[in-house]
Amino acid sequence: MDPVEDLRGYIDWLRKRNEIVEVGEPLSPELEIPSLLRKVMYSGGPALLLTNIKDFDGWRVAGNLFTSLRILREALSVNKLEEIGERLIPSAFFQPPSSTIQKVKAAGELMRLSKYLPSFVSKGSFEENVIEAAKNPLDKIPFFRTWPKDGGRYATFPMVITRDPESGIVNMGVYRVMILDGKRGVVHWQVHKRGALAQSHALEKGMEEIPVAISLGSDPGTMLAAVSPIPYPIDKTLFAGVIRGRGVELVELPNGAPAISNAEVVIEGRVRLKELVNEGPFGDHWGYYDKPTEKYPLLLVDRVYLRDEPIYYGSVTGAPPLEDAVMGKAVERIFKPIINTLLPEVVEINYPPEGVFQGLLIVSIKKRFPGHAKKVMSALWGLGQSSLTKIIIVVDHDVDPNDIGKVIWAVSSNVNPQRDLVVIEGSHSDALDPANIAHSYGGKLGIDATRKLPEENLGKEWPELVEEDPTIAQKVAQLLQKLMEGRGGIDRFKE
Ligand SMILES: Cc1cc2nc3c(=O)[nH]c(=O)nc-3n(C[C@H](O)[C@H](O)[C@H](O)COP(=O)(O)O)c2cc1C
Repeated sequence: MDPVEDLRGYIDWLRKRNEIVEVGEPLSPELEIPSLLRKVMYSGGPALLLTNIKDFDGWRVAGNLFTSLRILREALSVNKLEEIGERLIPSAFFQPPSSTIQKVKAAGELMRLSKYLPSFVSKGSFEENVIEAAKNPLDKIPFFRTWPKDGGRYATFPMVITRDPESGIVNMGVYRVMILDGKRGVVHWQVHKRGALAQSHALEKGMEEIPVAISLGSDPGTMLAAVSPIPYPIDKTLFAGVIRGRGVELVELPNGAPAISNAEVVIEGRVRLKELVNEGPFGDHWGYYDKPTEKYPLLLVDRVYLRDEPIYYGSVTGAPPLEDAVMGKAVERIFKPIINTLLPEVVEINYPPEGVFQGLLIVSIKKRFPGHAKKVMSALWGLGQSSLTKIIIVVDHDVDPNDIGKVIWAVSSNVNPQRDLVVIEGSHSDALDPANIAHSYGGKLGIDATRKLPEENLGKEWPELVEEDPTIAQKVAQLLQKLMEGRGGIDRFKE
């Protein structure tokens, strides 16, 4: 079975590799399953398939499916996740073809992009059963309550699909949905996301509602695409094809919204754009309950489609690093080649998992001119969802952003606070950031931890980095090897 075929194909693939554990104890989706998923994730445990869901006979629940980057990379059949981003930037873009053969090769390379295009099919696997709104279908799905003070049950990984009312382009984002009752919910698309942009476009056109197809549970590539920050107006389902390595299949619902054909469950409904209702509280990925009750638009459900013996996939949030941190890292790796195309001076990037993705970015650059670090900060703060990053630390090319000790050394030794900090007081910000001063509004901090050029340092040369004499270094290295034979390293800072 192709590991990226659908959710159950992925689960079978994990099972064959002993990467998923079945849990038969009866557990409730209200607090119990989320608690187990979090604890397993914090303990370095595997993906889980829960087969005995309290009050939801006939369902299975899958969790922690984004177990590790390695598993995800293998499931997506690539040697490095960066290869996925590279698919979008064929080498032909950078090598002007000079011979006819090269021209033909370049055209072939561009043609290959077409295999990632989405296509419509007449029937989806989710269409095996239909529950109409009158029968309160949302009551029949084992949505999680993830934290005791959450405002209700939530769909925590719904792929919310809309068509932009202006261009018809397909949006697909994971925006949690708070369940109000059997046929109503609240869609938490934050103001900076494409769902909210579609809402603005629709309101400009005088529309009262937009049709949605909320797809639950799919293959890992499609699910990763739904959380990926693809700028409008690139079709989000095209990007799903890029991640999967082949086009995604869609089904047009009666309401006109496209659904993912291999989904386990699809909720067909309408988002009522002017009916804003309180959303939250919800214990989110910053490890806090959101500031209670921002207003978001109402979802009216018309019907729910589901496969026989459906599997519900839910993600859980809490203080990092949880499953969403793995997704964030995967997105970082996939987007690294794209960032490099826009900012070739960038050597490496690291969104540390504990930095909640939007909290902290460390980036190393090959510095060439005075003010270069601040140029890179400005560019990243102007670029799609990387603009939501609160704190950016820029280091020189020889400091690995993943080596936090080295980063601390660079910050400590190279930063003069008067000169090297950029503070933006009042800026758009991740809607959930607990430090925001108003809704989606906070500030930014940039730390230029690069070595300074004379122009940046009152004309003075930066001190020279110490370096060993190469002959002596080689001789001592051999001696060191002998001395260390059979010894582990000492943890010097442990009392
Ligand atoms: C588990 C999980 C839950 C998320 N919940 C939300 C949410 O409730 N609202 C939101 O705007 N973004 C949420 N996100 C982030 C978006 O999915 C992400 O920013 C994505 O790029 C949005 O798609 P868009 O750029 O097409 O709008 C969540 C991400 C994950 C991994």
